[in-house]
Amino acid sequence: MKTEILFLKQEDVIEAGILNMAKVLEMVEKAFYLESQGEIINPPKTVFGIPIGQNPSSHFFSMPVYIGGDVNRPGIKWAAESMTNAKTGNLPMGIDLIILSDPVTVQPVAIMDGMVITAMRTAAAAGVAAKYLAPKGAKVAGCVGAGVIGRTMIMALKEVLPSLEEIRLCDLNLEKAEKLAAEFEGIINVIPTNNLEEALTDADVVATMTTAKKPFVKAEWIKDGAMIIQMSACEVEAGVVKKADKIVVDSWEQMKKNDLSIIKQMVDSGDLDEKDIWTLNQVVCGNKPGRENDEETTMFSSRGMGCLDIIIGDHIYKEALKKGLGQKLVLWDEAKWV
Ligand SMILES: NC(=O)c1ccc[n+]([C@@H]2O[C@H](COP(=O)([O-])OP(=O)(O)OC[C@H]3O[C@@H](n4cnc5c(N)ncnc54)[C@H](O)[C@@H]3O)[C@@H](O)[C@H]2O)c1
Repeated sequence: MKTEILFLKQEDVIEAGILNMAKVLEMVEKAFYLESQGEIINPPKTVFGIPIGQNPSSHFFSMPVYIGGDVNRPGIKWAAESMTNAKTGNLPMGIDLIILSDPVTVQPVAIMDGMVITAMRTAAAAGVAAKYLAPKGAKVAGCVGAGVIGRTMIMALKEVLPSLEEIRLCDLNLEKAEKLAAEFEGIINVIPTNNLEEALTDADVVATMTTAKKPFVKAEWIKDGAMIIQMSACEVEAGVVKKADKIVVDSWEQMKKNDLSIIKQMVDSGDLDEKDIWTLNQVVCGNKPGRENDEETTMFSSRGMGCLDIIIGDHIYKEALKKGLGQKLVLWDEAKWV
């Protein structure tokens, strides 16, 4: 029997509705809830780096997942990041592919671009965290990094924080910040800058999504009662983590395998107790409290979980089938050696 796979290029994924941040937030929250109920198998991602010149500057990540409940979908994300692309600006820094399979016959059913899905789900994880941990009535966000995740972070924060009036957007490359700010004209007031201190001081929510390999956010810039969101491993200095009354991560199992993670480094050096690190699924299901008062400073840090890609990939696949999108690829006409 012929086995066919639905192939969705990036344009199909967009046509199927991936840019609907409200829907993505809903699915990401559902994934964290299903995780809390033991419905998700999400082993830590495997990672390797390929040296280009002196240091590893291309990284590949393999992220296998099964989602149970009414989703019932196994799949994998094959993700990659290129520091060469980040430097040249000719291609996206992160390029990803998602494969979905049938849970019973195990046949692959879909292959799709995962780049936009990754960008949307990454910021949506922060958005779900902000829903539970951001200060009530947050008016000002200080964002650092005007790249791919910078764009979706603005979309997510705008969606979950209706009181937000101003987003200060800082990038080493001011032109990038200006261009991205212009995309949100008439949607939300985004003020481009390359002055980090001005962008972050007094912000109710601070979010970092840069390719920096060294901490650059100082504790003295973070106001009491703010929420800090760190999307890469070590953008904030240890003092920022120390300042947080609640530290929530997407997956501690994954984060503790990343030597670059500032949180892992603090646990290793005894500066932080592992038991004080909560996971977002615990907060979403109510086992741990979200924000409890205006004074507490909260922090969310993320390493990225494949289950978010697969739950969204499954939704996009179903939408694409309804809309007749994509191309069919034939894996075989008749399977050999059945
Ligand atoms: N946690 C997750 O699930 C997850 C998923 C995807 C990407 N990421 C991480 O998010 C980060 C951003 O990814 P991206 O795809 O948006 O990258 P990108 O290359 O599109 O954008 C990064 C931006 O950061 C800016 N930048 C770098 N260092 C800076 C500094 N010190 N101060 C201010 N700006 C600085 C760059 O100029 C660039 O505009 C990366 O570290 C990536 O690994 C995390």
